[in-house]
Amino acid sequence: MTTINDLDRKTLVHPFTDLAAHDTGASPSRVVKRGKGIRIYDTDGTELVDAFSGLYCVNIGYGNEAVADAIAAQARELAYYHAYAGHGSEPSIKLSEEILNWYGPGMARVFYGLSGSDANETQAKIVWYYNNVLGRPEKKKIISRLRGYHGATVISGSMTGLPFYHTAFDMPCGPILHTTNPHHYFEAEPGMTETEFSKKCAADLEKMILDEGPETVAAFIGEPMLGTGGIITPPENYWQEIQAVLNKYDILLIADEVVCGFGRTGENFGSHLYGMKPDLITIAKGLTSAYLPLSGSIVGDKVWNVLKEGSEKFGPFSHGYTYTAHPLCAAAGLANLNVLKEQNIVANARDVGAYFNAELRKAFSQHPLVGEVRGQGMLGAIEFVADRGKKERFDPALKVGARMSAAALKRGIIARAMPHGDILGFAPPLITTKGDVDHIVRNVVDGLNEVSDGLVREGVKVA
Ligand SMILES: Cc1ncc(COP(=O)(O)O)c(C=O)c1O
Repeated sequence: MTTINDLDRKTLVHPFTDLAAHDTGASPSRVVKRGKGIRIYDTDGTELVDAFSGLYCVNIGYGNEAVADAIAAQARELAYYHAYAGHGSEPSIKLSEEILNWYGPGMARVFYGLSGSDANETQAKIVWYYNNVLGRPEKKKIISRLRGYHGATVISGSMTGLPFYHTAFDMPCGPILHTTNPHHYFEAEPGMTETEFSKKCAADLEKMILDEGPETVAAFIGEPMLGTGGIITPPENYWQEIQAVLNKYDILLIADEVVCGFGRTGENFGSHLYGMKPDLITIAKGLTSAYLPLSGSIVGDKVWNVLKEGSEKFGPFSHGYTYTAHPLCAAAGLANLNVLKEQNIVANARDVGAYFNAELRKAFSQHPLVGEVRGQGMLGAIEFVADRGKKERFDPALKVGARMSAAALKRGIIARAMPHGDILGFAPPLITTKGDVDHIVRNVVDGLNEVSDGLVREGVKVA
């Protein structure tokens, strides 16, 4: 009999998957059937605690009836209408008002897409259009950071500062540059404080801008806190130092809030937490808690005023998709933001997030295999190293990060082995309780002991 897993191997191209191994059945596959709260259930009946919220996105948890009902009601009322040439639908208009309120002063309008990647493509186009309207055709380069993650399409993937996403795709391309990764633990010189390291990051950025010519640099894009690059919190005063440089050379700041937005850090936006003053904000994931795909480019007052001038010069704003401002996705977004507000979920993310990060530090930071435990709100990571004193990584062939994630999975916990390092990442749903945190941490401690014993048996040296 053909199982659903067999059918999967013969029909679907999976992202970020070894295609050959999946095709032949050499690698494991999992078909997820159902979700409720912080748990998912697969077709084999396995129950797992999803301590990564899918891909940091199911923030209100699985199986929320209010959101499901709102989607169904909207599908009956109006499943689709486009947003071209001034058309609209009620949910997308109301959602825009909600989003602007969630952020607060400084933001003027929202443009919708369907993924974080396409929203960052939109940001690039807005930045280029903005400078064309202003008569500065040279000012087009966008600076992102090594270890930044901004998506996988051509320009957003080029913004991504992780080589693994570029290999064999003829990327990065376009006028995209990458500056210093702000990871104090590995990148700071010995003895450098976080504040000194932030100054160094800003000095590196300024040097890049001067080398390129400030008249050619249009924007800087950054996640308030690095996500896929390893869940890395910015060093002390980082954004203040970076923003001083950007202001000096009239360079726009794009805050990529795809992960941080809508409560994940314990604040409405990561920008609020770190005192960022972005000109443009990218949102996705937590906007709908992934009940339907929806992303947005929030346009700040300064950029919006210039975009409006563009109509006189260039005619209609010629950007958008069939599904821009899709009413069903917007209804999902509205219902999701309502759940977040009614159940005070951002406050839960702040309280339980602080507990979660404290428990992670308590359980792991002194372990001989652990170099650093870091995080903020409902984001956390454990970085494993072979030598704590020298901050030396393990031989990548040992796959310590992947083993850790497998050991957690064996105990019913989904935590993600992050690319480019032996890093175990966590991004539990924002509804997670302190009891859930205890359950997660206890099982990961068990998993670490198993991996640690295995490494000792294999004769791997740990200093
Ligand atoms: C910060 C950030 N930006 C953009 C993206 C891309 O979003 P998507 O996968 O929806 O294209 C991601 C995805 O993880 C992300 O973490």
